[in-house]
Amino acid sequence: MLTKDYVNEVKTNGNSALAKAIEGLKNTSSLSYFLENLGFLPNDFDGSVLLPFISHESSNVRFWVVKNLGKLGDIKYIEPLSKIVKEDTDSMVRREAVSSLGRMRSAKNIQTLLSLLTDPDPKILAQAIRGLLVFKGNTAVDTQLKQLANHPNEFIQQVIQKEYFPKKIKSSHLPHAQTYDYLKNVVVNGDVREILQAVPDDSIHLTFTSPPYYNARDYSVYPSYKAYLHFLADVFEKVHRVTKEGRFFVLNTSPIIIPRVSRQHSSKRYPIPFDIHPLLTEMGWEFIDDIVWLKPEASVKNRNAGFLQHRKPLAYKPNPVTEYLMVYRKKSDKLIDWNIREYEWKIVKESKILGNYETSNVWRIDPTFAKNHSAVFPVELCNRVITFYSFRGDVVLDPFAGSGTVGIAANALERHFFLTEKDEKYFQVIETNLGNKSLFSKNEPRFVTLNEFTLLTKI
Ligand SMILES: C[S@@+](CC[C@H](N)C(=O)[O-])C[C@H]1O[C@@H](n2cnc3c(N)ncnc32)[C@H](O)[C@@H]1O
Repeated sequence: MLTKDYVNEVKTNGNSALAKAIEGLKNTSSLSYFLENLGFLPNDFDGSVLLPFISHESSNVRFWVVKNLGKLGDIKYIEPLSKIVKEDTDSMVRREAVSSLGRMRSAKNIQTLLSLLTDPDPKILAQAIRGLLVFKGNTAVDTQLKQLANHPNEFIQQVIQKEYFPKKIKSSHLPHAQTYDYLKNVVVNGDVREILQAVPDDSIHLTFTSPPYYNARDYSVYPSYKAYLHFLADVFEKVHRVTKEGRFFVLNTSPIIIPRVSRQHSSKRYPIPFDIHPLLTEMGWEFIDDIVWLKPEASVKNRNAGFLQHRKPLAYKPNPVTEYLMVYRKKSDKLIDWNIREYEWKIVKESKILGNYETSNVWRIDPTFAKNHSAVFPVELCNRVITFYSFRGDVVLDPFAGSGTVGIAANALERHFFLTEKDEKYFQVIETNLGNKSLFSKNEPRFVTLNEFTLLTKI
């Protein structure tokens, strides 16, 4: 029986032992197993023992032959690998051959790689681009790669745009980790759409929010579902402008049900997360993650009573025990590592998430019910979002602050809050909740109207 240990032993006995062992492997599955487990190849390994199998009838065998030749990075295999690229019928084998040619970093491969820029398989194209970018600065390479700037495949487009046409980001007046003092620990009473007009570009580090519901109670506020989505998109576009480069926006939403008017009508379910998502990506938010907030079934409204009795198909109504936390990042050519490097090491160290943490995208958290607001966040939910997506001293925005839970959590975690709330009654709840809290920072909390805030920004 073939084992990894046997393959290893043969490998260390030199090329002729290896050639003999391979020749002795009569069936395809043993040959595949042997080639797959060759692992690291010694410098003096002679790839020619593999060449007889490069046109083997099994695509798996061909794949592993190509992969092993690729590990050698030797230009003497350019010809057989180029032949595979041109002639093999299996896309995995071809992709591996392009990758192997690229890894050689040899100018001799430029023509072959350039000839692949019209390949219909975007993965072949991506591998060819990767191999060619090593020769950035070579006129032929640059000219042909630039022509892919509007390629229909978004991934190819993104790579070329980043390499050759990087967006010029308006330089912010402040370093990435810093922001304006008048945004620190401030709660503004007013319509977020007006308030954000007074907030400068690139000034907020993180936004976490749960928007007002589109439901029977709020019906008069939003004349239609379309108008409601339009309102949310308007707010989130403004949030995008004020967000610092490459920083996060976490949106809590879930589909909602508008109950039926009478027995002659049916209830209607609106898929808010799915409808708002394309609007968000369109305006420049890059989708990062979907986190599911899972609540105990006993804490949600029961829709099952009817079905439980009659058990008739089509009338099944599961109890919705989940909400989404949709995680987005302000689109940027810069990697997240860049964002992190913009902070002093001391801040990064103090912001580390130590000990146990939720490793999956399902967060089991009990909902919170409050007397003074009908839809408050559990503090635990805010704690997780704030610690995972911001640093100590950052400014965290909640444009629909409600009772101010994001502010309470931000302060406890040594972040600043910037909250906006339209309803005077809830604004006062926030004042009660936050006004008497001892604050971590020197920035005393301010509870202001839109006019007062506008004045603050001018001081
Ligand atoms: C779902 S609640 C947020 C509750 C909050 N997460 C908490 O923990 O208390 C949404 C809030 O958005 C507020 N709101 C609605 N439209 C607004 C607007 N245009 N500007 C600012 N706040 C608004 C509502 O008054 C409501 O308090």
